[in-house]
Amino acid sequence: MKPILEFEDVHYYYPGQKRSALQGFSIALPVGEKIAVVGRNGSGKSTFFLHCNGLYRPQSGVVRFDWQPMAYNRRSLQLLRQRVGLVFQNADDQLFSASVAQDISFGPLNLGLSDVEVRRRVQAAAELCEVADLLERPTHALSSGEKARVALAGVLAMEPEVLVSDELMASLDPWVRLRIFDILQQLHDQGKTILMATHDLSVVRYWASFVVVMEAGQAVFCGSPQRLLTDRPLLEKTGLARVWWRVEPSFPNEEG
Ligand SMILES: Nc1ncnc2c1ncn2[C@@H]1O[C@H](COP(=O)(O)OP(=O)(O)OP(=O)(O)O)[C@@H](O)[C@H]1O
Ligand SMILES: [Mg+2]
Repeated sequence: MKPILEFEDVHYYYPGQKRSALQGFSIALPVGEKIAVVGRNGSGKSTFFLHCNGLYRPQSGVVRFDWQPMAYNRRSLQLLRQRVGLVFQNADDQLFSASVAQDISFGPLNLGLSDVEVRRRVQAAAELCEVADLLERPTHALSSGEKARVALAGVLAMEPEVLVSDELMASLDPWVRLRIFDILQQLHDQGKTILMATHDLSVVRYWASFVVVMEAGQAVFCGSPQRLLTDRPLLEKTGLARVWWRVEPSFPNEEG
C-alpha cells in the first residue's frame, strides 16, 4: 500500500479545552481510495482534516504528504494546497468573496494561471457542481446547500489530487447528493484520493473503499469496510453495531 497521507502520533490541543482534540492520532491513508471518516461528534474528524492541507500544524507528531513531512513555510503550503483541496464543514468558513464567480476563481488566480485557463476552470467546476447559473450571485445570499456546492466548486477548480470533504453531503438535497457522488466517482476514476467525514453509515457501506473510525482524538480503526463490518467487538466497542443495525436491518442486532 502506498500511503498518500500519514499521521504519526499527532497531538493537537485547542487552548482552554480539557483534553486534546487529537491525542496520539496515527493513520496511513492509501492513495486513490474513497475514504470515509466516521466518529461521534467531537471525536476529532474536522481537526484531523484541518491538518491535511497544513491549515493546522500538530503540536507534536508528524504529518507526511506523499512521503514528505509537511513543511509549514509559505511556498510549501502553497504547493500543498494545490495538491490537497479541503471543503470545510461549514461553507461560511470557506466563502469570503463577494460573488460566486470571484470565489471559485480565487484559487486558480492565485496559481498564476492565464485568464483563459481560469475562466475555463471556473466554468467547468461550476457546471460540474451545478452552480453555473449562480455565478453572478452574492455568496452571502445563497442557501446552505448552494454554498456547499460553491465551496466544492472552488476546491475542484484547483484540480487537487486529494479531495478532503468535511460532511459535505449534510446540507445537500438527495438529487444533488447523487450528482456529487457521480462527481466523486469521476475523480476516483482519475486516480484521485477522496476523504469524506460523514455520519451516514450507508456511505461507509456502499461508497467507501477504506474507513477510518475515530474516537476521542484517536484512530481506532483503519481498513476496509468489510473488515470493519466483520469486527464485531470493535463495532460493539465503538457503539457502531447498534446504529449499523438501522442502516442494514439484516445485520445482527444486539440480541441477534
Ligand atoms: N475552534 C475550537 N476551539 C476549541 N475547541 C475546539 C475547536 N474546534 C473543535 N474543538 C474541540 O475539539 C474536539 C474535536 O472537535 P472536532 O470539530 O474536530 O470534532 P468532529 O469529529 O469534527 O465533530 P462533529 O462530528 O461534531 O463535526 C471537540 O472536543 C471540540 O469541542
Ligand atoms: Mg466536524
